[in-house]
Amino acid sequence: MQTDLRGRDMITTQEWAKDEIETVLDVAFELKRERATGQAHPLLRDKVLAMLFFFSSTRTRASFEAGMAQLGGHAAFIESETTQIAHGDTPKEIGDILGRYFDGMAIRQCDWEVGNQYIRDVARASRVPVLNMQCEVYHPFQALADLMTIMEKKGEPRGKTIAVSWACAASYQKPLSVPQSLILLLTRFGMNVRLVHPPEYRLMGEVLDRAQENARAHGGTLEILDDMDSGFQDADIVYPKSWGSWLTTENVDESAAIGRKYDDWICDERRMALAREDAVYMHCLPADRGIEVTDAVIDGPQSVAYDEAENRMHVQKAVMALTMR
Ligand code: CP
Repeated sequence: MQTDLRGRDMITTQEWAKDEIETVLDVAFELKRERATGQAHPLLRDKVLAMLFFFSSTRTRASFEAGMAQLGGHAAFIESETTQIAHGDTPKEIGDILGRYFDGMAIRQCDWEVGNQYIRDVARASRVPVLNMQCEVYHPFQALADLMTIMEKKGEPRGKTIAVSWACAASYQKPLSVPQSLILLLTRFGMNVRLVHPPEYRLMGEVLDRAQENARAHGGTLEILDDMDSGFQDADIVYPKSWGSWLTTENVDESAAIGRKYDDWICDERRMALAREDAVYMHCLPADRGIEVTDAVIDGPQSVAYDEAENRMHVQKAVMALTMR
């Protein structure tokens, strides 16, 4: 167990050692237990987190804000469009100046080929920890919550098979960050990861290479498939969600046309029946109901999507308590 993580940024789980991630999970389980039994845990009394959003959110905003209050501190919601960031404040200015007001800074910036660099530039200038609330490359807190949920529902993750599958969507060209963070983290915990997608929806080469290295180092596997049914076959966990065809085209109309070719990539009861009988369905939310997943599946007995959403708060509280104290 690592006992001193003060001052650390969380931009991707890949930059944290495995025993540091295990510490986060230990603390998250403890904080979840304490909340369930009504034990207060004001570990960050009088501390303030800045939450800077360039992109909308339901769960991330609400869970960071509630989490800071439960830790005895406060979270300030800041939107890029309603600040002078829209008129030219640079990442260096944001990092240096907000770092003097706040005890931690959390940022969501998902613009393609902009977001991750923006967060890193702020972190370089900041004297306080910077937490990635999602960029175009990584969504570390989602992956940590997902791993916590897998441990709760399935026990030891080692040897379990998960299908991280693309699914059709109508809403918008979503970032690659959820599947990329999942394959990076779960391969470090010895899981058999099936990444399933049509050819136009490939993930970043350097992320795939790193996930393969993780699998080799930790006794897991990473297999890439292009058929949703094969991906689901006998899986312990299915995680079908949409992401954008960013590496094929950044054009919204072209990407929508590509997506329409695969409108049968939906998670329905027939596909769930291909997985193990006790398989669980996961989704980070929001989901496109009727397109990405049927109501019967997401509202059905195998779905753990709401527990997964709850666990966002517990892992975030753990990381904040460890880095901002
Ligand atoms: N899963 C997730 O990040 O949800 P929000 O976009 O609502 O924050």
